[in-house]
Amino acid sequence: MERAGAVWKNRGIPFLQMPNTLAMTEPVVYLNGDMLPLSEARVPVLDRGFIFGDGIYEVIPLYGVTPFRAQQHLARLQRSLASIGIPDPFSATEWLGLINEVVAANALAGDQMVYIQVTRGVAKRAHAFPKEVTPTVLVMTNPLVLPAAELREKGVACVTMEDRRWLNCQIKSTSLLGNVLAAQNAAVHGVTETIQFRDGFLTEASSSNVWVVKGGRVSAPPKDNLILEGIRYGLMEELCAAMDISLEARRITRDEVFAADELIISSATKEILPVVTLDGSTIGTGKPGPIYARLYAGYQAAKLASSEALTAR
Ligand code: PDD
Repeated sequence: MERAGAVWKNRGIPFLQMPNTLAMTEPVVYLNGDMLPLSEARVPVLDRGFIFGDGIYEVIPLYGVTPFRAQQHLARLQRSLASIGIPDPFSATEWLGLINEVVAANALAGDQMVYIQVTRGVAKRAHAFPKEVTPTVLVMTNPLVLPAAELREKGVACVTMEDRRWLNCQIKSTSLLGNVLAAQNAAVHGVTETIQFRDGFLTEASSSNVWVVKGGRVSAPPKDNLILEGIRYGLMEELCAAMDISLEARRITRDEVFAADELIISSATKEILPVVTLDGSTIGTGKPGPIYARLYAGYQAAKLASSEALTAR
């Protein structure tokens, strides 16, 4: 590997020199200025991420080595950090450099997803923000296993649950217990996702946004504090606009969700998937619908276009 032995400088912090063989033996992660084998990457127990879940994260999909919608993911990271008063340790350009470094160090074959986590840092346990603290920064990459074709062709099952999370769901916080419980609920039922409702209105799934199709029109819950604005939310807006599909952000009742012609979930790791049963009830025809097919094709075209745009640079 070309870069082995090089020292990648960032704000005066030298990245650890890395032997070529490291990437072949185990994943290499970036932690607080060092590139380390995963098994050697450690955080003190007083890290506020561990003690309080006081941190922010991002999951960025990469097709091959090309990050998809990286600018939007990094903007959301910056927004989330700002909203809880953690200084963003890097500029977008520096984050991109770091992502490339981790990707190069691991040399994974195929698609991957980069995970970024920034916590407030290590301090004596006290709830309020410590005065002087350095954020903890972790970047790692893992293979991205996209949903099997069968799931796209046959559709997936989901269940529902009352949304009992906090009221700042727009922040991509590592405090994910509510989401963990919703995901576990799906696992217990042997389905793909738990779709949540708050006071009778649709919010989102445990780790995906939800889209309702009726009469050829798409609706989604508004981008407010009750949902995380997925990076695919913006993409769906663009795809619908380009394909002349009406898209409305509005409050959606539970009855409307069950009466939908099509139901779709979206996330970095699922891309977009059609939901064909909800709590055991059939949605629409019980098969993936025409709007899903168009949006999925549009999604794949957007992936291709972004890789081509990058290669052309
Ligand atoms: N989750 N809503 C929630 C609660 C999420 O956790 C996610 C993504 C989304 C979709 O966002 P995006 O389109 O940016 O992936 C919506 C990621 C994949 C995760 O936690 O692993």
